[in-house]
Amino acid sequence: MRLISFGAKNFLGYSELELKLAGLDPLILIDGRNHDFADASSNGSGKSSISECIAYALFGKTIRNVEARYGKESIIHTGAKGGTSVWLEAELPTGKLRIERYRQHPEYENKIRAWLDGQDVIRGRVASETDDRIAQLLGFDYDLFCRAVVIHSRLTESFSTVENRYIKSITERLLGLRDFDGLRKYVKGQVDKCGSETAQLEIKLSNTIARLEELESELEALQEKQKTHQHEQSVMGQRLAQEIKACSDKTTQFSKTHSIAKESADKFQGQLDKLNRERQKIKDAASEQDAVKIKAERKQAELGAELRIATQQAQRYTNMSGKTCPECDQVVSAAHVKAKVKELENRLIDLKRKVKTALTVVTTQAESVVKTKQELEQLDNQCGDLRNSVSNSERDAATIAEKLRNERIQLKRLQEQKEELAVDPYAELIANVKALSINKENELAKAQADLKDQEERKRYTEFWLYAFSPNGMRSFMLDGATPMLNQLANFYLEQLTDNTMALRLNTVKSNKDGTYKDKFDIDVTNESGANVLGGNSDGETGCVDLALNLAMSDLLESRIKGGIGLLFIDQALDLLDSSRAALAVRLLRQKTESAWCKEHGIVVKDHVFLISHKLDIQDSFNSVLYVEKHNGTCRLGQKA
Ligand SMILES: Nc1ncnc2c1ncn2[C@@H]1O[C@H](COP(=O)(O)OP(=O)(O)OP(=O)(O)O)[C@@H](O)[C@H]1O
Ligand SMILES: [Mg+2]
Repeated sequence: MRLISFGAKNFLGYSELELKLAGLDPLILIDGRNHDFADASSNGSGKSSISECIAYALFGKTIRNVEARYGKESIIHTGAKGGTSVWLEAELPTGKLRIERYRQHPEYENKIRAWLDGQDVIRGRVASETDDRIAQLLGFDYDLFCRAVVIHSRLTESFSTVENRYIKSITERLLGLRDFDGLRKYVKGQVDKCGSETAQLEIKLSNTIARLEELESELEALQEKQKTHQHEQSVMGQRLAQEIKACSDKTTQFSKTHSIAKESADKFQGQLDKLNRERQKIKDAASEQDAVKIKAERKQAELGAELRIATQQAQRYTNMSGKTCPECDQVVSAAHVKAKVKELENRLIDLKRKVKTALTVVTTQAESVVKTKQELEQLDNQCGDLRNSVSNSERDAATIAEKLRNERIQLKRLQEQKEELAVDPYAELIANVKALSINKENELAKAQADLKDQEERKRYTEFWLYAFSPNGMRSFMLDGATPMLNQLANFYLEQLTDNTMALRLNTVKSNKDGTYKDKFDIDVTNESGANVLGGNSDGETGCVDLALNLAMSDLLESRIKGGIGLLFIDQALDLLDSSRAALAVRLLRQKTESAWCKEHGIVVKDHVFLISHKLDIQDSFNSVLYVEKHNGTCRLGQKA
């Protein structure tokens, strides 16, 4: 960061403040006079407020922390109307940053406004989000600024009074290791989570194995039962096959016998039908013969009647008393009578012959009828026999059919038994158990793979837990940075003390048992004084503090892209005597010289501000900012 300009309205002691750094010497002394007190007074003139303006513009916080302790409005210049505004412009590697902060401002109220190359960089609606964004753009935050940019006689703790643990934590923060605690906490959570997930997976795995063993036993038991069943099935199957064979044979035999009986019944029935037809014919013939006989008898009776009439006529003609015709009652001749008698006699002869013939026919027919009836009777007897045979055969056939039906029922039952026997009641159960076993084996494989992954993850998280632990990467990085700190601090201390003092930082070390020593000692050697830091004089301790603070500032510079380029030393030299203070000022000037910094491998400071009440160093400065206070209001002024 290269500071370009900054300023404020109604901020702390100032009603107006503006400073453009262009044209100023990099080493700047801030001198002041408080005209409200006494001519020689510098206290309260507004010197430190310059660094406060920079701190507030960058982070919204003062170094002295008034806004947190006394309220956000405590930064507003007492009695000012229209609130306060503080602004700053700086060149960053990413662009030109302008920040404006307001408090109770008529237009901008309590807003923060910020741009990078004219682009708004405000993030979110909460001020802290914007502050985070600005700190991210700067590459350092308020804490690091207070620690490594501002070296304050009162607010920057002396290394002689702070605990080792505090020094260690400062160094860690300067190295950017502050987040390691958060990371470690996060990873610890992951390790614990991993542990409980691993335990759950192990339980799942052992449950799956137990279930698989159960399934294996079930399968074995079922396969044993199946074996027994198959044996019984085979024995019973053979028996059933025999029974089926016997039954089937019987069925065939009954079927054959039934066919024979049926054929026999049909044959007898055929014969009976034939006989019946013959009988009918004979019966018809007998009827015909009867009819002929009756006709002949009727004819015979008719002829007999005719014959009696003709006989009577012939008798009358024969017995004719006169010559009167018995028929026409007319007188007839004897010849006529004779002829008539002759005619009647012929007719009688004819009639007698016809009667005889008719009688012969009657007799013949009567004989035929008798004969035919005898035949009919004979046939009736034959038919009766045949009917018996038919009914016997049919009864036999029905009996056999009944037996056949029973055998077939039995055969069907046996075949059903055989089919039932063919069904394996264990096959489906075994298949189910096998399917379950396959599922469980898959589950087992998955659980084993998950457990493997989980163990891998556990190892991984445990590694990072160790890596983020104080004796992991922190120790590693701290150990890596400590030589640089040692070298720089000793280099500065040599300059400040004319090589009479040296220091050594001792960082964290692992114990044999795997624990670590949370120590960060500073060993001091003083050729002409105490060899413990706390035992040295104020000026000597001031030299050690300055050397260490400068080294720490360099450490921060070295890891921030583009560096910070700014150092603000507020009365930190005032404990030093004139000669040491002069050495310190020389050192500060060297830190603004690029050739010297390059030679010593450190980042050059663009601007070093020094506030000091030591009058004898003022001649060493080309740029002096003169602040003065009149009637309770500070302002940048011109030294008379
Ligand atoms: N809100 C405020 N309104 C008015 N004056 C204030 C306000 N806050 C601080 N001051 C005053 O501003 C003056 C300048 O303070 P500053 O700390 O800059 O003085 P200084 O020059 O550094 O003095 P010293 O040499 O004692 O450190 C002080 O008198 C202080 O009391
Ligand atoms: Mg001051």
